[in-house]
Parts: sequence; structure tokens; C-alpha cells
Amino acid sequence: MDDLKAKYLGLIAAASDEAALEDLRVQAIGKKGEISLMMRELGRMSPEERQMAGPALNALKDEITSALAAKKAALADAALDERLRGEWLDVTLPARNRRQGTIHPISQVTEEVTAIFAEMGFSVAEGPRIDSDWYNFDALNIPGHHPARAEMDTFYMARAAGDDRAPNVLRTHTSPVQIRAMEKMGAPLRVICPGGVYRADYDQTHTPMFHQVEGLALDRDISMANLKWVLEEFVKAYFEVDHVDLRFRASHFPFTEPSAEVDIRCSWEGGTLKVGEGDDWLEILGSGMVHPKVIAAGGIDPEVYQGFAFGMGIDRIAMLKYGIPDLRAFFDSDLRWLRHYGFAALDMPNLHGGLSR
Ligand code: DAH
Repeated sequence: MDDLKAKYLGLIAAASDEAALEDLRVQAIGKKGEISLMMRELGRMSPEERQMAGPALNALKDEITSALAAKKAALADAALDERLRGEWLDVTLPARNRRQGTIHPISQVTEEVTAIFAEMGFSVAEGPRIDSDWYNFDALNIPGHHPARAEMDTFYMARAAGDDRAPNVLRTHTSPVQIRAMEKMGAPLRVICPGGVYRADYDQTHTPMFHQVEGLALDRDISMANLKWVLEEFVKAYFEVDHVDLRFRASHFPFTEPSAEVDIRCSWEGGTLKVGEGDDWLEILGSGMVHPKVIAAGGIDPEVYQGFAFGMGIDRIAMLKYGIPDLRAFFDSDLRWLRHYGFAALDMPNLHGGLSR
């Protein structure tokens, strides 16, 4: 019996699956199993022999039964472990590629411009894209007959039949936000006003909707010299260069007197733009000293306050800095273009970390 016990416990321990265990069960304690057959022999034994062999056989049968059950449980555990290992999922892995979405160059450049002017004490003001003809034109010293109205290819909003007030317009520039900022905040004042503007125009460098940023600084003693310094600081920071040459060209805008267009020195060697060196000049903005009539339209006394203003195309300076050749692509929503020209979502531009890492 000791041999039988050793044999079956060994075989059970070595069994590799449930089917093998079942075979062993039948072989040992099934109806015609080795141990069952021995139990049948009991009847032919003497009472003394039976008293010895009976309990021993029963104990052996019990032991084999529980060894089978224990092994069966162990096999089931191992099978479950195996399955869990196979089905394991790392829930800390990102579900999708992190760079699915990118920041559009217009948003990026707006943030860059805002960061630079914030450093010089300018806050951000906004106004509506549908504005009255007064804010868009009259308040900026562009009266009804002025040629600038015709030049701007204005989109006019519809008026109800019989309503003969001047129609609202899709603002043609961000300059009307100058007036709203003056009304709201008074003087002294330092703001930039970024946002979308509209003109009926469409080619490689014009789209019916585009973006500008307006700047306005008013105080008792602000001069053209302050304008020049601020613009120089801006251009250096924006193009991330140590030195720039600016050229102020006399110009005319109804809302400034005197007015100047500002060019920066550049080169186009090999088709790529380099800012700060070379023999070419690139126009980047319009500016001037705010016309007294405009200051008065904003509700501020032009005898006390004076200052400068400027207006710049955000899309244009984005194209220049990031080498984007066609303005129309900005508004195509082509994902391949956005992946190529877009910016990582969590890199907020700031002057300390670098604007455009
Ligand atoms: N509003 C002008 C435009 O849309 C740009 C501009 C020029 C804005 C001179 C100004 C300025 O504030 O002083 O073309």
C-alpha cells in the first residue's frame, strides 16, 4: 500500500491538466481502479486481516481523493493566472497619440504677441466682429465720403426693408476696439486688441477673414520715440533676434497724425527670409500718433492725453516667421497642414522659456 500511495501521489503531482487527473482517478479509485479492486479483496480476508487492511485502504482512498482535488484546484488557479497575464492591460498608456491636435499658427502667434506686449505693460482688449459703422469708420475719423471706406471692401450686414439707418459692418480692422477700450478704461491706457477682421478680397495673400492686432498707448507725454522703442522691442522679441533695423516711412491713415508705415530690414537669400540683415525692407505694420478727433471720440480729452497706435496683420507675421507661403491654407482645416505647421498644445509661449521652442 505504501508503494501504491507513493506511485499515485507522484503521478498526481506530475499531472499537467484536468484530463490527466481524471485518468488517474479512474485508474486508482474508479470502479475497476487498482485500489477499488483491492477493496473487493477484503471479503476474502480473515477478520483480523480485514481489520488491518480495511481502514488502511479507506485512508489511502481518502488521501488520493484529496490529492486529486487539491491538484485540480491548483491547475485551475494556474490557468486563471495564465489568462490574467494574457489579458493584462496597462491603463496608464495613452489611449491615443498625444499629438492628435495641435495649436494653430494664428493662435500661437496671438499668444506670442500677447506675451511680448504683456511684458511692456499692455493688457488685452476685445470687441465685437459685427460692429456699427460709427465704431468701424466715423469714430476713427473716416467720414461717409472718405475714400478709405470704398478701399476697404467692406461687408455690410442686411437691414430690414424700410430701416434706413447705416448698416452694421463686419469690422474691416481692429481699430474700432481702440474706441471701445478708451470708453471702457479711460486714460492713461495701454492695450493690444487682437482678433478677426473681414474684407471682400481673395488671393494668395488675402482671405475674406484674417487677423490683426491693434496697439494703443495713451498718456500725457507719449511720443513717436516711445512708439519706435516699443516696436523695436516687439520685433526683436517676436523674430527672436538680437538686433533689428526699423524704417519709418511717412504714410497716411485717417486715424493718426502723423502716420508712418514701418518696415524691417531683411534678406531673402535662397528664398528664405532672414530678419535683421540684408538689403531688403519688409513692411509689417501701420502706425502713428492718434488723431485728436479719435481720442475725443473715445471720450478722452485730446488736450490732456496723446499717444500712439499701430495695426499689424497677425496672419502676415505668422507667415513671415514660420515660412508659410499661402495665406489661404490657414483656413482650409487640412489636418496634414495643421500637423506640419501646428504647435504642441502645452507649450505656452513666454519670453523666459523662449517663444517658439
Ligand atoms: N487699421 C489699419 C488697417 O486696417 C491699420 C492701422 C494703421 C492701425 C495705423 C493703426 C494705425 O492703429 O495707427 O489697415
